Amino acid sequence: MQVHAKCKLVKKEKLKEDIYKFSVESKEIAENAKMGQFLEIRVSDRIEPLLRRPISIHNINGDIVEFIFQVKGKGTEILAKKNEGEEIDILGPLGKGTFEIEEGKNIAIIGGGIGIFPLYELAKNAKGKCNVNMYLGFRNKDFVVLEKEFKEVSVKFVLTTDDGSYAEKGFAINFLKQDIEAKRIDKIYACGPLPMLKAVQSLAKENNVPCQISLEERMGCGIGVCLGCAVKINAGEETEYKHVCKDGPVFDANMVEI
Ligand SMILES: Cc1cc2nc3c(=O)[nH]c(=O)nc-3n(C[C@H](O)[C@H](O)[C@H](O)COP(=O)(O)OP(=O)(O)OC[C@H]3O[C@@H](n4cnc5c(N)ncnc54)[C@H](O)[C@@H]3O)c2cc1C
Ligand code: FES
Repeated sequence: MQVHAKCKLVKKEKLKEDIYKFSVESKEIAENAKMGQFLEIRVSDRIEPLLRRPISIHNINGDIVEFIFQVKGKGTEILAKKNEGEEIDILGPLGKGTFEIEEGKNIAIIGGGIGIFPLYELAKNAKGKCNVNMYLGFRNKDFVVLEKEFKEVSVKFVLTTDDGSYAEKGFAINFLKQDIEAKRIDKIYACGPLPMLKAVQSLAKENNVPCQISLEERMGCGIGVCLGCAVKINAGEETEYKHVCKDGPVFDANMVEI
């Protein structure tokens, strides 16, 4: 069920320069949210910017819904100026494509940059049901966030920085590559920059391992009306498109052309 609500911002935390964690109160959104879904956030009551901004659900904690965002442009800049106690106009939870877990599996969760945010709710729910192997990649040490939180929900935890300024040097995918056979990985989950998703998609295919990826296409309406977020689907001879907002944001990696 989708809810349109004015949610009170009960906690605002600055995790890094330009990265904020917001905790908002909404019993209805919290009760209805599934792993991988997102929110459409109206950042201002003014005419501009008109379009809502899509932000993933990071964590559900009772009636509290948490999301984390990086300031990119006008919309997120306005959002970052909200103060505790203010209300935020939110539509959600959105998206039909969600993460699915099966008990007893060895799973790998791989994320890069701001793509790690929606993976926390997945990892938290999988903990205790599956063996969670976590691979997180960041550009450099200034971008590293949520290390402790993700460590707590995984049996194996690898953190990489591209330049080696913190933890392991290199790309997270290379560490997953080493483990895919050794750890007998049954399923992979990924969210992050497109080059990383492409590499994960190929790795999963080569090893015949089921894989779900979460896409963060640019969006217009967020509810399947404007066609702004189309993604090409592997449908044999036919060309078929699906909407990231309505059919995703999580897809079977074999299904989408990215
Ligand atoms: C399903 C979904 C979930 C998302 N979850 C998160 C999240 O949890 N945390 C987070 O920080 N961001 C997330 N994003 C990205 C976020 O929506 C955009 O960064 C935001 O809308 C930018 O708005 P803005 O007005 O600040 O910037 P704009 O002024 O609209 O754009 C500023 C710059 O960001 C680029 N940009 C805008 N949207 C996207 C996008 N979707 N992907 C890549 N580049 C973009 C633009 O091309 C431009 O260069 C998500 C996007 C989608 C589609
Ligand atoms: S954003 Fe409008 S159809 Fe997906």
